[in-house]
Amino acid sequence: MHLKPVALAAALAPFAAALDVQVASSGGNKTSYHQYGFLHEDINNSGDGGIYAELIVNRAFQSSELYPVSLNGYHSLHGARLSIQNLSQPLSAALDSSMRVAAGNGSNRAGFENEGYWGMNVECQKYTGSFWVRGAYDGSFTASLQSNLTDDVFGSVEVPSQAVADDWVEHTFTLTPDRDAPNSNNTFAITFNPEGTENGYLDFNLISLFPPTYKDRPNGLRVDLAQVLEAYHPTVFRFPGGNMLEGNTNETYWDWKKTLGPLRERPGFPGVWGYMQTNGLGLMEYLELAEDINNMTIVVGVWAGLSLNGDITPRNDLQPFIDDALNEIEFIRGPADSPWGSRRAELGHPEPFNLQYVEVGNEDWLAGAPEGWNSYKEYRFPMFMQAINDAYPDIQVIASGATSDNYTFPAPAIGDYHPYREPDALVEEFNRFDNDLGHIVGEVSATFPNNGSKFDGPLFDFPAWIGAVGSAVSMIGYERNADRIPGTFYAPILRNMNRWQWAVTMIQHAADPALTTRSVSWYIWEALAASPISHTLPANEQFGPVFYVAGRDENRDDALVWKGACYNISSNDIYNSTYRANSTRVPVTVHFDGVESGTEATLTMVTNPGGDPYAMVDPLEGNKVVSTTETSITANADGVFEFYMTELSLAVLDTGVNKRVAGAPYSPIGKKDHDWKPRMAGKPPGYRPAV
Ligand code: AHR
Repeated sequence: MHLKPVALAAALAPFAAALDVQVASSGGNKTSYHQYGFLHEDINNSGDGGIYAELIVNRAFQSSELYPVSLNGYHSLHGARLSIQNLSQPLSAALDSSMRVAAGNGSNRAGFENEGYWGMNVECQKYTGSFWVRGAYDGSFTASLQSNLTDDVFGSVEVPSQAVADDWVEHTFTLTPDRDAPNSNNTFAITFNPEGTENGYLDFNLISLFPPTYKDRPNGLRVDLAQVLEAYHPTVFRFPGGNMLEGNTNETYWDWKKTLGPLRERPGFPGVWGYMQTNGLGLMEYLELAEDINNMTIVVGVWAGLSLNGDITPRNDLQPFIDDALNEIEFIRGPADSPWGSRRAELGHPEPFNLQYVEVGNEDWLAGAPEGWNSYKEYRFPMFMQAINDAYPDIQVIASGATSDNYTFPAPAIGDYHPYREPDALVEEFNRFDNDLGHIVGEVSATFPNNGSKFDGPLFDFPAWIGAVGSAVSMIGYERNADRIPGTFYAPILRNMNRWQWAVTMIQHAADPALTTRSVSWYIWEALAASPISHTLPANEQFGPVFYVAGRDENRDDALVWKGACYNISSNDIYNSTYRANSTRVPVTVHFDGVESGTEATLTMVTNPGGDPYAMVDPLEGNKVVSTTETSITANADGVFEFYMTELSLAVLDTGVNKRVAGAPYSPIGKKDHDWKPRMAGKPPGYRPAV
């Protein structure tokens, strides 16, 4: 092959590094992993209508003062008359409203259909259903999955009646459609013959239908959403909030006890994000979610005597809530013969869950400020911490604010820091924890455009590329300080595209799994989490425009890892004064002490070839923004790895052979139809600008 002279010259030119990283083989600051994970609370219909796989909306007519009982989601069939009843004999104390279905005039069929959470995905797979009926009926029910647009019925099953006059009787069934529906505009219907009833009507409650669930858990998770979460390798999970934990008032916080046991014993929860929640995704389901997805480390938030309306629990009334938190901890990790551990065992999990982190409250600096925060510092947090540490000395207690919220929490607590920021501000986070107490970064996302007006203006419609790279810089900074910063959590993690309160989520979804979409942030987090570091290693510090961390992983034969994010090449003064030859890319060399010529590594590059810093993944188009490439790279004669980084990119160099492998690239193009339109996110109810 004949190379042109100019190309030959370039090929022979020495690699002129603008960034030359020398990594020592020992002496780093850390002894444990910095974990990547997420917060889940039911926001954006990410629980009901989201990862909780129930297909029936308003399945048990649950209500509260804030959300009155309704027939929302139900429609009459065959002229039936539907009404809400509050019978003297309800299904349960928790579910005290039900739906009466009365015959229409002259029809020998009556029934109802349920529209689901903005439709239902119907495929040839086994659906598991149940409903409760009160009233004598001699006949059978027909349960069907059918189109909302045409007369198509994709599958139906006859359910023999066991209904009796004066009691509630559960009916169970399975239903396997014989063909896939072409779109998610479908309903679930139940009909019966009113001539077989005693009174011409029947009462229904707790109507439920599940598709196959993640890891086949009854009352479980939506498979595609759990899989797309699992595929970015989260290893730490914070729940149940977030504002959901706090509740709207001191009478309506997220009470874990009301989320346990059979569904008929769960009253539901007046959610803080604008809708009534079923409590189907309860404490046990959250714990199982953590176990099933990568056996994640748990950070559980316990209610701490403050709600979103600013109600503060006085010192003298606090002890019952401290006892309640201790009971919750015992439920999670107590032995199966302890009072609350035995309740967990009864519910099918005799083995204790592994719980090492308990957070007291959520953002106590915000609601009811300044009194709420003052009460937290003066007595609420110290009282909770003392009690938890006395009972469980090995548990790391977490305060719900940061040192930057003007709180030096008492040892041995660590804090919780929530940087919802512009991309540039996240880059400034890089050295945020170089000299500080320990914290988790319990919520983070790049939420607003640069030079915007923060919470007074619109949020991004979806995570934007520049924000994802900006947050990579911050996370690399947190990982450098992993001796004190054990984990970072994306929030909010999921969004149903039909109704949301907070747009900048890592994953978007609707009823149709073809619309489940990884945002640009997913790709950045995946690459960072795929190469864990158990020990940081010291390196020379030449930060900007590339920000980096180096380390080794003792669980992968001491694999050597370097992670770097490149942000804002052209406006970086140091870079421009030392290296100007090519301002569109940065030549990088990395030398790990002891690495010899010929050593192989994998170089993962996460880039946005289109170049638009504000590019976002649109769920209707799939990923047309992010490129993740993995190449094999060999150390040169001096044992040095050489590569280039482009503007707004992430590079991960890893000598390990068994780095975590993400699932297949996922680019769902909306192959089925859909009924949502992108719109700007509204501001969350009750939200106030961060201080
Ligand atoms: O993630 C959305 C909300 O932001 C959380 O509920 C709250 O903790 C924070 O203010």
